[in-house]
Amino acid sequence: MPITFTQRCIEPDCGSIFGLNDLLYVCSRCGELLDVVWTEPPSVDPDSLRNVWRDRMTSFEPADRSGVWRFRELLPFDGEAPIVTLEEGNTPLYNAPRSADYCHVDSLQLKHQGANPTGSFKDTGMTVAVTQAKVLGARVVACASTGNTAASLAAYAAQAGLLCAILVPDGQVSHAKLAQSLDYGAKVLEIEGNFDSCMRVIRELSDDGSLYLVNSINPFRIEGQKTVAIELAEQLDWQIPDHLVVPGGNLGNSSAFGKGFRELLALGLIERMPRISVVQAEGAAPFAAYVNEHREEFVDEPHPSTLASAVKIGAPVSWKKALRAVSETEGQVLTVTEQEIADAKAVIGRDGIGCEPASATTVSGIRKLRAKGFIKPGETVVAVLTGHLLKDTDYVNKYHNNSLETEDTQRIQGTFSNPPIKVRGNRDELRSVLSALG
Ligand code: F0G
Repeated sequence: MPITFTQRCIEPDCGSIFGLNDLLYVCSRCGELLDVVWTEPPSVDPDSLRNVWRDRMTSFEPADRSGVWRFRELLPFDGEAPIVTLEEGNTPLYNAPRSADYCHVDSLQLKHQGANPTGSFKDTGMTVAVTQAKVLGARVVACASTGNTAASLAAYAAQAGLLCAILVPDGQVSHAKLAQSLDYGAKVLEIEGNFDSCMRVIRELSDDGSLYLVNSINPFRIEGQKTVAIELAEQLDWQIPDHLVVPGGNLGNSSAFGKGFRELLALGLIERMPRISVVQAEGAAPFAAYVNEHREEFVDEPHPSTLASAVKIGAPVSWKKALRAVSETEGQVLTVTEQEIADAKAVIGRDGIGCEPASATTVSGIRKLRAKGFIKPGETVVAVLTGHLLKDTDYVNKYHNNSLETEDTQRIQGTFSNPPIKVRGNRDELRSVLSALG
């Protein structure tokens, strides 16, 4: 029996139910976020499901080759869905021995979501959200973004033949991300203010139904992103790591991992969930403050600041869902400094793995979690790298040339910098430089 789905308010005291194709982003009764949920607990045969998913990898059908739609039994669509795919997902899980040494952990693997078609994890959610836009007959899709959501939406909207409007904070998005959105033909609207201002105004704009909003407030985005948990479990032969560490910005990704593992557990595909920990940049860490200072109310950070521009967010939309993931798995929420992010990024690089600064919060976070004993000797750890190195090369070049500065002009030390060497192009000089390599 195929699984059937509906939308439900996440607030236990409300729990209002809505049709799967009702066009709304939050509960119309209490204003809380929505989950896509099963109408009744499904019963599946774990082994046959695993085999179906694995067999699809040998197919040439785009939906089978997609690392999202390969798991379509757990996605809220029927066989008629007008799937919009760029063959996203199926991303590598790398061993990272130098990063493991740096963190003093025995085993560290990096799930590199930067290997997606537009270079970030957003594609796994966007393929589903844009497919739902087609189901609903939307004409215009829209988002607010620090750059990656925009690039991803622009690409999927182009594939789907939909108009695309994106709102980005003026002057705060990396050139590479902006270039992607322009090239894919989106209308790029540069707004005065930060990401949170863009998010506020796009939510107001989408109220009348004229735009289909695909930020992670949209539960269909989370449905796509949850498949990364399934893919990761499959890559580990269904043996779950002790710890999963994820960067936190708008907090959709950590929410999605929680949902993915929760469903796998309910279906009997895994025996336990990993501890899910979320790492925020120190200057943009309202979630960490809420959790660690035991605040009664969630307080937005009015002036978020970090060079990891992807997570420069002060009013994360999905904090309640992320809190659920962290609490139920007994994970942690922590912060890391700009220096720690920069150094961790360079260490990841030395493993031959290139990520953007926001992704490197994970490795610096793991180092801290190990130092304070939360990660124990012998435990297995997976970090999620969310974006590709080429998303922000200005940052990388500045770090290696020892000229990287924080927004309040503090110099970042190039602890592991690898600056280029200027040499005259003659054989003797080159030989003497190269002999110094050892
Ligand atoms: N890492 C990267 C590379 C990102 O682009 C983002 C979010 C995050 C981490 C944080 O993920 O929001 O799910 O907690 N980028 C969004 C954007 C906000 O607009 O591209 P999150």
